Amino acid sequence: MTATWVRLGAVGSTNDAARRLIAEGAADGTVVTATEQTAGRGRRGNTWASPPGNLYLSVILRPAAPASVLGQLGFVAAVALAETLAPLLGAGHTVALKWPNDVLVDDRKIAGILLECETAGTTVRWVIVGIGVNVANGPVVARVSATTMAALEIAITPEALAVGLIDALFAWRSVWQCDGFAPIRAAWLARAIGVGAIIRVNLERDSFEARFVALDDSGALVAELPGGARRLVAAGDVHLLGAA
Ligand code: BTN
Repeated sequence: MTATWVRLGAVGSTNDAARRLIAEGAADGTVVTATEQTAGRGRRGNTWASPPGNLYLSVILRPAAPASVLGQLGFVAAVALAETLAPLLGAGHTVALKWPNDVLVDDRKIAGILLECETAGTTVRWVIVGIGVNVANGPVVARVSATTMAALEIAITPEALAVGLIDALFAWRSVWQCDGFAPIRAAWLARAIGVGAIIRVNLERDSFEARFVALDDSGALVAELPGGARRLVAAGDVHLLGAA
């Protein structure tokens, strides 16, 4: 799989730039980067602070897969990101993955992933995997515990990071396409934090406490409620409250 690169200056959101390229017929493997975003989007309607100096990247994928498994691409991207960052950071730092798609270094968020897609019935038209990595700047939001490559004393440009990341992403995408979710799930679990812990699960209209007992074969979080009943969570946010 080869990448076609579209390198932009300031944009609203690279995911929106990718949508425009899709409308013009952009192929699977088109990668859009920008030097800054003026309307960067995060998950669950959050904004993603996007000053110059960080990595803002969106990849257009047109996978031959049913719509029901598209969420797995978030795990593909998270594993690829972790594999890209870990050798850069070295043994003195821990790169961890938090359900569903957060990438943390030493317990602080360094990167986020936003999936957007268009489906027609069970068919996938396109998926945009939007990835932001804090290279030079972290968000100035008190409640978010974030870090940056610069704060970790790693000198790398967004461009160099993007090239390494796309290599890893395309390699893991091929694994997913050929062998399914099992190897992705195993790689994700090898770096996961929170499995076995008590968590708060925040859904669109609901919030509850439970124990994070497993990641199922589709990528859903298996939550065990205080009475012992289990609940599958396909999309949402989790906060770690403590060990089991
Ligand atoms: C999150 O909330 O953790 C996901 C953040 C995703 C941010 C990236 S930056 C590139 C792409 N363009 C956007 O507007 N968002 C994603």
